[in-house]
Amino acid sequence: MIGNKILKFEATESTNNFLKINQNSLEHGTIVQSNTQTHGRGRNNHTWMSENGNLYFSILLKEGINRFLIFDNLVKTSVAIIRLLREFNIKGRIKYPNDILVEDKKICGILTESYGSLDIQYLVIGIGININQQDFKSLRNKATSFKIENNKEYLLEEVLDKFINHYNKLESEDYELVFKEYITSSMVVGKKILLDSKQFLIKGIHKNGNLILEHESSIEYRTPNEISFDQLY
Ligand code: BTN
Repeated sequence: MIGNKILKFEATESTNNFLKINQNSLEHGTIVQSNTQTHGRGRNNHTWMSENGNLYFSILLKEGINRFLIFDNLVKTSVAIIRLLREFNIKGRIKYPNDILVEDKKICGILTESYGSLDIQYLVIGIGININQQDFKSLRNKATSFKIENNKEYLLEEVLDKFINHYNKLESEDYELVFKEYITSSMVVGKKILLDSKQFLIKGIHKNGNLILEHESSIEYRTPNEISFDQLY
C-alpha cells in the first residue's frame, strides 16, 4: 500500500533524490510530491523540466522488493497511469520502456531507481505527469498535458489521489492480468526493428522486462539498453 504518508513541498531538488537521502527514516509507500524541482531528472541523465502546474512525485518502496521485481513495479506503475488517464478520458499508450504517450506526444515519464547491489534495499519510482502546462516551447510537438487534451485545469491533489487509488487497487489484482493489460497498452509489440543489420519483429515483452525479438523464426532477448528506440517511435 502506498500513500499512507504524503510529503508535499513547494520546491525540492528532485523528489527521487529526496527519498534517496531520507529513505532511512521514511516508511514503505511514502510519497513525496513537489510543485517544482530545481534538478528534476529523467532517464539517461536527461533533465526533467519541472515548472509549476504539473505533478512531480516519487514513491518509496522498501517491502517485498528484490531485483527481479523492479520491472514488475514499472509495469504496475505504467498500468496505473493508463487507468488514471482513462478516468480523465485520455487514451494513453505505453512507450516501452518508461514513457506514456497520447498519440505521439509524451504526457508522463517514469524514472525507476533501485539502491543496493545484490540485495535491493529500496526502490524509488519517480513520476512526472504533465497536468496544467499549456506551452511546452521547443517540445511543443513532442509533449502534451491533461489541460491540452481536455481544455481544463486540474487540482494536482485530485490527480495524485486518484493515481494512488489505482496503484493500490492494482496491488491486490492478479499480476498475470495486469501484465496482459500492460502488453495491450504497449506501442512496441508488433513493430519491426533493425539490430546488427538484421530486421527483427518485436514479438512481445518478457516478464523480466526484456524485449522478445524474432528473426527468421529464431527468438532473441534484448534489454532496453541494447536498443535504439529512435527508429520505433
Ligand atoms: C523520463 O521520462 O526520462 C523520466 C522522467 C521522470 C521525472 C520524474 S518527476 C518526479 C521524479 N523526480 C525526478 O527528478 N524525476 C522523476
